[in-house]
Amino acid sequence: MKLCHCEWLVLCHLLLAAVVASKNHGSVPSSSYLFVLVYYTTGASVLIGNPADDLVEIINKNRTAQKLSTLSDTPGLGCMALQYVELCKKNCTSNNTVECKPSEDDFTEIFAPNCGVELPTIDTITGHIVGCQSKYLEPSLAFSQVLVKNKKSLSLLKNKSHTEVGVGMVGVHKGPFLWCVLFSSGKKNSTFVLEDHGIGIKQKNGCYSGSSIPCNGGQKKSAMWINIMFLGFLFVFHLQLL
Ligand SMILES: *[C@@H]1O[C@H](CO)[C@@H](O)[C@H](O)[C@H]1NC(C)=O
Ligand SMILES: *[C@@H]1O[C@H](CO)[C@@H](O)[C@H](O)[C@H]1NC(C)=O
Ligand SMILES: *[C@@H]1O[C@H](CO)[C@@H](O)[C@H](O)[C@H]1NC(C)=O
Ligand SMILES: *[C@@H]1O[C@H](CO)[C@@H](O)[C@H](O)[C@H]1NC(C)=O
Ligand SMILES: *[C@@H]1O[C@H](CO)[C@@H](O)[C@H](O)[C@H]1NC(C)=O
Repeated sequence: MKLCHCEWLVLCHLLLAAVVASKNHGSVPSSSYLFVLVYYTTGASVLIGNPADDLVEIINKNRTAQKLSTLSDTPGLGCMALQYVELCKKNCTSNNTVECKPSEDDFTEIFAPNCGVELPTIDTITGHIVGCQSKYLEPSLAFSQVLVKNKKSLSLLKNKSHTEVGVGMVGVHKGPFLWCVLFSSGKKNSTFVLEDHGIGIKQKNGCYSGSSIPCNGGQKKSAMWINIMFLGFLFVFHLQLL
């Protein structure tokens, strides 16, 4: 899983494709179109895969190694974890701590509605861990260096009350990355239910665990000029092929 800055990747790829195509008098490799599609559906930078899912896996591996139950990966809870870090985006300090205290009401009044979590299915939150870092970290490093880096968070992770888990993460444009883990003691499948048959509301930024939609790094502000350059390039390139 890694972060890619797709504007450059896409440009390089197309340049390469152009060179190859002009040499062979052939057509654009179909993979170019795939890149374009990925680029335009996800924004300027995308995360390949879903690091939030990887974190749930790491959390469960850590628990089962200590003979604790596996937590069920609940998308509605994951999306609420994403809302949590969205709200705390500006509150990452220079020493990589998050000074942010959402109120209880934020869960029902902001997080759930933004996700499309059906209000009556919200259950008890038995714990949360939030962390931030000035740059993106691989899931295993985010786990050990950001989320579970002290005894307090380790004991929270090992709490027997939890039955469900959700992870959310978001990157601020040219800023830090934030991660949040939410735990709940709710019943699997019947809590934090996303409306619209489990689809919920599509998120513009960030990633959350259990999501069926691929996520992006949250750096949504794609450079307009790169887009224009890119479109111009495509245009010229296609003219050459005619
Ligand atoms: C991090 O910074 C905050 C305020 O900016 C401070 O309260 C806290 O003690 C610092 N933590 C460490 C570990 O230095
Ligand atoms: C984030 O930080 C700002 C400024 O320090 C503070 O006013 C605000 O309450 C914090 N947000 C939350 C949700 O705690
Ligand atoms: C586990 O979490 C529950 C619910 O938040 C809390 O009441 C309990 O004290 C925690 N147990 C331990 C051992 O920390
Ligand atoms: C669980 O995670 C903690 C914190 O990173 C680590 O110290 C511990 O070794 C891990 N346990 C297992 C069994 O992986
Ligand atoms: C929960 O959902 C999973 C996957 O859809 C399904 O296999 C399982 O039977 C469900 N459990 C209950 C208790 O409904």
